[in-house]
Amino acid sequence: TRPLKVALLGCGVVGSQVARLMTTHAGDLAARIGAPVELAGIAVRRPGKVRDEVPPGLVTTDAAGLVARGDIDVVLELIGGIEPARTLINSAFEHGASVVTANKALLAQDGPALYAAAEKHAADLYFEASVAGAIPLLRPLRESLAGDKVNRVLGIVNGTTNFILDRMESTGASYGEALAEASALGYAEADPTADVEGFDAAAKAAILAGIAFHTRVGLDDVHREGITEITAADVASARQMGCTVKLLAICERAEDGRSVTARVHPAMIPDRHPLAGVREAYNAVFVEAEAAGRLMFYGPGAGGVPTASAVLGDLVAACRNKLGGGVGPGESAYARLPVSPMGEV
Ligand code: HSE
Repeated sequence: TRPLKVALLGCGVVGSQVARLMTTHAGDLAARIGAPVELAGIAVRRPGKVRDEVPPGLVTTDAAGLVARGDIDVVLELIGGIEPARTLINSAFEHGASVVTANKALLAQDGPALYAAAEKHAADLYFEASVAGAIPLLRPLRESLAGDKVNRVLGIVNGTTNFILDRMESTGASYGEALAEASALGYAEADPTADVEGFDAAAKAAILAGIAFHTRVGLDDVHREGITEITAADVASARQMGCTVKLLAICERAEDGRSVTARVHPAMIPDRHPLAGVREAYNAVFVEAEAAGRLMFYGPGAGGVPTASAVLGDLVAACRNKLGGGVGPGESAYARLPVSPMGEV
């Protein structure tokens, strides 16, 4: 069987771990896929900053050229942000590649257009790593629960803010100290404003609500409040009341089933609630479905190695589809289900 060729775009916290694991797990990946997978190139902005774990000789600054080579089977987009990621993803589809991305900001803004592009080219668009790091969450929502009716998705979907609030509570660290630590550990976005102002969680809420309720939810539809106004005194007084402060994302179907709402804001969680025990950069998401009942998904929500696990899982799925001539669940899979109009948030 011919080797499948993979282009890696971006070699930061997540990308460098994907490159490392693709090399060290090459045998296992080939066995699971049924063909070897080969890293054909790694596009980076600053070659001087590439980490040790990256195989030498594959690094290029020409991401557009790498994607347009014509022999790439799967593009892993781990650059983040809107441009050049969007142009590169569209080019990947045009050149016959499937795409795996962790780009929550882009999906929240342009998800429907990206689905349409994937469908037009009969390619895959997988993005498990975009929400809740390593936790398998989107695939269960799209596939395992496809026959059920999800009414609510609620939880902690930003590791950085959870880490900051946890550190402020448990060690008395200041907001600034805790944020610096979260950045040093590779949890925060390149611009941590996206984390602390709630934009990152709001993008994830939009992605979750769109998938859970088979509708289109954009970033602008999500009511958003971050944690920048939370003080050490707030955290301490919550503690005195037997509560802990968490940044929650809440996506709900209205009772009449005709609209959905999505919002992100800090909340006081009583100690007896399972979300109160979610520490450091862990995430936890409850999914409430009509037949399944209440499900809880819990695990590492940020960081290079855990997030790389989700990327590799998607890579395996995309490669299997390439070999088998099929595609995964695109938006057409949702469009067959009733679409709810958006409600006021
Ligand atoms: N900055 C994000 C977080 C990374 O802290 O959750 C994972 O998406």
